[in-house]
Amino acid sequence: MSKKPQIMLLGTGRAVPEKILTNADLERIVETSDDWIVARTGIKQRHVAEPGSALSDLVTEAARKALQDAGVSAGEIDLIVLGTVTGDMKFPATACLVQEKLGAKNAVAFDISAACSGFLYGLQVAEGLMTTSGYRRALVIGGEILTSMVNWQDRDTCVLFGDGAGAVVLGPSDGERGLLQSCLRSDGAHSGLLYNPGGGSVNPPTAENVAAQLHTIRMEGKEVFRHAVTSMTGALKQVLEQAGLTGEDLDLLIPHQANLRIIEAVAKRFKMPMEKVFVNVDRYGNTSAASIPIALDELRRSGQLKEGALVGLVTFGAGFTWAAALLRF
Ligand code: UT7
Repeated sequence: MSKKPQIMLLGTGRAVPEKILTNADLERIVETSDDWIVARTGIKQRHVAEPGSALSDLVTEAARKALQDAGVSAGEIDLIVLGTVTGDMKFPATACLVQEKLGAKNAVAFDISAACSGFLYGLQVAEGLMTTSGYRRALVIGGEILTSMVNWQDRDTCVLFGDGAGAVVLGPSDGERGLLQSCLRSDGAHSGLLYNPGGGSVNPPTAENVAAQLHTIRMEGKEVFRHAVTSMTGALKQVLEQAGLTGEDLDLLIPHQANLRIIEAVAKRFKMPMEKVFVNVDRYGNTSAASIPIALDELRRSGQLKEGALVGLVTFGAGFTWAAALLRF
């Protein structure tokens, strides 16, 4: 049976850039069509940051809203964990820049690089630190400006991604509500199916490497799709089994928003009707680590997360990394 939760959500927040790029806009940039993008991905639009925007600004806005929602001050935060692969700079950690912008002077702050799994990795890392190191209030955030590493000439990838940030404030559980189960998985054998080759030690940002677009996203879409469905299904099954539950016990499933067809395939494997599956990929595209916390905030603020609801979270991303969690609200 399920263990007693140690931590729970006290508040949520989200922030996205104002500018919206529709499929019709993309039709003017690459050889694509609204019909293709909607049929293959479910995406209709995505929010995009102006070139040169600071991810830390977007993340700070989401974090401030989450703090306000939770009724917690920045000074009370002990820990800031940010899942991102598109931080302001290579170093320092963007979480440290966010700590400064929030005035969260007492917080330990660091980034986690787990691509689309960054938020669920952050959630479990925060739970671990909160239960072993005495931290009482944590901010766990997922944020990306993925469009900063998109090749706008590559129609295989440029139609998929969007920018945004989502944050949650965590505190000690009341004994009933909170994180019931979680699992994290990784498999570096498939790192070459989804990656950004440039900017690191192997392909430093020389003029030649930038001209060759090595600083942009590479993806074998079909292969990633196949692994995403299998891995997300496996991780969700694992946390449900750990809790002695099945998909039918879930009131709501919040899957990573990469592709509507992936979401539907996972839901089908748990016999979950789509009314119980949260979808906003049509409005945001794939925002990587931000997708699950943005979804949590939309659901909370629209009153769709009823007290006592059992919610499954599941994600998959580059690495490969994947993860699942069960939350009681
Ligand atoms: O966040 C986690 C990581 N990411 C993912 O989970 C994404 C996983 N993969 C996917 O979502 C899908 O594989 C894609 C949406 C990327 C692609 O869908 P697909 O059904 O696997 O299409 P495909 O790559 O097999 O391409 C089918 C056709 C190709 O043409 P031919 O070879 O059949 O003539 C492509 O060239 O569609 C063509 N195509 C496009 N056509 C119009 C590829 N991209 C586009 C485009 N517009 N943007």
